[in-house]
Amino acid sequence: MNFAEFIEGRRDEHLNELCEFLRIPSVSAKTEHKPDIERAAKWVAGKLTEAGFKTVQIVPTALHPLVYAESLEAPGKPTILFYGHYDVQPAEPLDLWTSPAFEPTVRNGNIFGRGTADDKGQVHIHIKALESLHKVNGKFPINVKVLIEGEEEVGSVSLWDYVQKNKTKLKADALIVSDTSMLAKGVPSITYGLRGLNYYQIELTGPERDLHSGVYGGAVPNPLTILSELFGKLHDKDFRVLVPGFYEDVAKVSAAERKALNALPWKMKDFDKAVGAPGYVGEKGFTTVEQLWIRPTFELNGIWGGYQGEGAKTVIPSKAYAKFSTRLVPNQDPQKIAKLVEKQIRKLLPKTVKCKFDVLSTGKPWAAPFTAKIFLTAQGALEKGFGKRAVFIREGGSIPFVTQMHDTFNVPCVLIGFGLPDENAHAPDEHLALENYFGGIKSIAHFYADLANL
Ligand code: BES
Ligand code: MN
Ligand code: MN
Repeated sequence: MNFAEFIEGRRDEHLNELCEFLRIPSVSAKTEHKPDIERAAKWVAGKLTEAGFKTVQIVPTALHPLVYAESLEAPGKPTILFYGHYDVQPAEPLDLWTSPAFEPTVRNGNIFGRGTADDKGQVHIHIKALESLHKVNGKFPINVKVLIEGEEEVGSVSLWDYVQKNKTKLKADALIVSDTSMLAKGVPSITYGLRGLNYYQIELTGPERDLHSGVYGGAVPNPLTILSELFGKLHDKDFRVLVPGFYEDVAKVSAAERKALNALPWKMKDFDKAVGAPGYVGEKGFTTVEQLWIRPTFELNGIWGGYQGEGAKTVIPSKAYAKFSTRLVPNQDPQKIAKLVEKQIRKLLPKTVKCKFDVLSTGKPWAAPFTAKIFLTAQGALEKGFGKRAVFIREGGSIPFVTQMHDTFNVPCVLIGFGLPDENAHAPDEHLALENYFGGIKSIAHFYADLANL
């Protein structure tokens, strides 16, 4: 039996096993889920052992453990490092899920549950592809290193430390990641660019304490009003970010690349269906795809303060808060941008409020040429798995580790996503199309098998 037949015959088994993984609520952001995080790490380690890895380690870190496995028994063959994450985003708001977030359910050809697309389903694709190759041939076709972390959704802090201390151990000819999306249904995709991400929080303090808005209103600064005014001043009418120097280092994307990106089978209709807004805004002079993939942004993520309970409370709050982020593109430097943003915000704020400014995390953008031979191998493998030619895309999301790896090892990074943009990653009713899950296992098995002949 060849591995393609083996994989075909194991569809139910694979899916049932994925459900087991999805039932573990490995939410990295919440302390109460620490035992689940540990359980998920053990689960992954166990599956890697079953897949044929003799060296499997659960590495404790300052926060959540990472799982490392390796098999270096294919002399003369390439070595790849596969990276993914077993942690997931919180499932809230729970009442918006059609079926519970941690009770995976199949409906209309999709599997629903937190982590299906981001990233447990995609990690499972690789484990099952590798296991199938090992079960059919008694060994892996190439040398494989696997690194699955549990802190991706909270900024991969421990991971960077681990990479710095284990540079020799992690060295590989290529980094392989499946934590992105396909351009659209039926369009297998390889991602060659991601945006970077800086995340910020501010706290404004006006009066020293909350005040009766009748007794004091009219003569004291209201930090909530000031906060709202602030965010009204950070974009111009063309939706450009009004932070001096923000665009200074933005790399110019060539006319040829823009043309190629705009020629992709990307459909406004699908985008509109996924978003469902009454209308759209974006930086003038750029198409939607360009706004999403090659332009930096400034986004307000959360704003709070004052009274939010039932009925009315006449109060001037002492404090107002906001969380916001900037998505970055090559060659913007996260540290430099953080400084520019802080400077402008302090400049715009009146002297009537104090501002505490925190940068919660920074992450570099990434874009790289896809000329190495491995990209052709990946494209060929995707064609075997999906019967369609894969396209090369950029994306707007961020995986800081990819940039770190690229900067450290200077090797090709092959990002093959099996999610879809409308699969509700980070939102209620997250799901993964079964067609892409099964097609993914088949493609990745071909990819690893074909890499033996690179
Ligand atoms: N898998 C995503 C990143 C992603 C999503 C890349 C879609 C391309 C397309 C990852 O798990 C994620 O959510 N990243 C965060 C940043 C991280 C530092 C928390 C993001 O992009 O907001
Ligand atoms: Mn992810
Ligand atoms: Mn995510």
